[in-house]
Amino acid sequence: METPIYQGRSLKFFYPMGSKKLKALDCPYLEIPKGKLIALAGPSGSGKSTLLNLLGLIEPIQEGAMHFDGYNIGKLSEKEKTQIRRDDLGFVFQDFLLFDALTAYENVAYFLKNLTLSSAERHQRVCASLEAVGLEEQVQKRPLELSGGQKQRVAIARAIAKQPKVIIADEPTASLDQETGRKIMDIFLSLAQKNGTTVIFASHDPMALAFAQLQIKLIDGNAQLVHRGEEH
Ligand SMILES: Nc1ncnc2c1ncn2[C@@H]1O[C@H](COP(=O)(O)OP(=O)(O)OP(=O)(O)O)[C@@H](O)[C@H]1O
Ligand SMILES: [Mg+2]
Repeated sequence: METPIYQGRSLKFFYPMGSKKLKALDCPYLEIPKGKLIALAGPSGSGKSTLLNLLGLIEPIQEGAMHFDGYNIGKLSEKEKTQIRRDDLGFVFQDFLLFDALTAYENVAYFLKNLTLSSAERHQRVCASLEAVGLEEQVQKRPLELSGGQKQRVAIARAIAKQPKVIIADEPTASLDQETGRKIMDIFLSLAQKNGTTVIFASHDPMALAFAQLQIKLIDGNAQLVHRGEEH
């Protein structure tokens, strides 16, 4: 079997809470295979976003160890982590994090500026990804002129355009109607199946969860991999 893209051991993560600490993640064992569409499911507060932040090298490894693609994340410098986030990871955040001053086109193009692409290739990638999410008419609009669902789709286009090894998406269909949500999940599934991209998303949406090839269930911060057909 291929080496998993993420391997976690004895992972714990705490948030400061006054003078105490709140344990948000307590995960003895975690393996995430490469090239699959993987859902993080679990009740509100179970640690989905926290785990995505660890997988995205956004929060530090406080306790335990996690390997990503051969790197021991806890041992990397901030500079090395920034490089991995920039080159290998694409993010779709819950609150989109678009630049208000930039158009949809520029928001997507901005994240390609560090890649060695010709301007024609860059233009092609930006257009293709905005078209894939159905925003070809909105390329010149700024976030304030876009609906919530359209902003979410710009955020998705931005992650796709980068063609990263891993896409990390927090509630990617939350602002979308079912039909648009389905189209987005279709894109994610085909990125996994055709390009070998690992797509990890957190969701409460049964439609989105049904697309996943694997599910990781979080209960009180503990993540368990559930293979299809094993769900209860
Ligand atoms: N920045 C923070 N500071 C303090 N506590 C936090 C912070 N972020 C999350 N928590 C707490 O950590 C736990 C896990 O939160 P997390 O956001 O990971 O849950 P979630 O599964 O993503 O929930 P939801 O489905 O509502 O998005 C919760 O108890 C939450 O209150
Ligand atoms: Mg969350």
